[in-house]
Amino acid sequence: MPEIATSLSSRLFYRKMGSGPVVILLHGFPESGTLWRNIWDDLALSFTVIIPDFPGSGNSSLDQPTSIVQMAECVRQIMNAERVSKAVVAGHSMGGYVGFAFAALYPQRLCGLTLVHSNPEADDEEKKNTRRKSIELIKKGAKKMFLGQMVPNLFSDSFKHLHPEVIEEQTRQALEISSEGLVNFYNAMIDRDDRKKLLNNINFPMQWIIGVNDNIMNYKKILEFCYKSHINFVSFYNNCGHMSMLEAPEKLTDDLKTFTNHCNKYDS
Ligand code: MLT
Repeated sequence: MPEIATSLSSRLFYRKMGSGPVVILLHGFPESGTLWRNIWDDLALSFTVIIPDFPGSGNSSLDQPTSIVQMAECVRQIMNAERVSKAVVAGHSMGGYVGFAFAALYPQRLCGLTLVHSNPEADDEEKKNTRRKSIELIKKGAKKMFLGQMVPNLFSDSFKHLHPEVIEEQTRQALEISSEGLVNFYNAMIDRDDRKKLLNNINFPMQWIIGVNDNIMNYKKILEFCYKSHINFVSFYNNCGHMSMLEAPEKLTDDLKTFTNHCNKYDS
């Protein structure tokens, strides 16, 4: 699998598979590109799928503090290295914040943006303080305890009970991220810009994937934003939390295929 050395990360790793129109899948927190393991093969039957590990996760190095905007820059650097002029970008939660930053900087490089359980709003003070407390915990060496509580909360109650092995595996993968990597992601989220205003000016299609039982992003809150851009695909996932790529992979694959095909028609 390819990796490139850039000014932002001396080892910026990404997966690339399939052929055809390009879809770039951005992971959230506390995850790496392997988050998409249940959907990448199927998507790669129809599209070129590119999946970065952001600096500090998976196989990518964290050489310096890396902001959400710099993560968007990493996406552009990978597109340039792969000679991809335009793509559909699908970002999960924190990956969606990166997707919005990318949309603000390089709208001409997007043929569509999918928000997988994400929204354009910056953290309020309460959220920032909660994250700061988590940072302190992680710095004191309580990473295992923190992730052991945090990761199960990403899933709906019904999924958690039916598939404890998936939660176990996801927790195991989260534990592979270093404390420095986790702290960097939290600082990046604390410092990110609010992107709500961007919604009024977007001139590419947007897709919103919404988990009705999402404990992290309340679906009613996401609905406040998602009708503001002019072409929207909105999909509700019943009995699904924050992790449709693991809780409902077939449905997410179908939705991403439909949207990507639409975007490429709309764009040509
Ligand atoms: C994520 O899934 O990426 C995070 O939960 C996002 C966040 O904490 O805002």
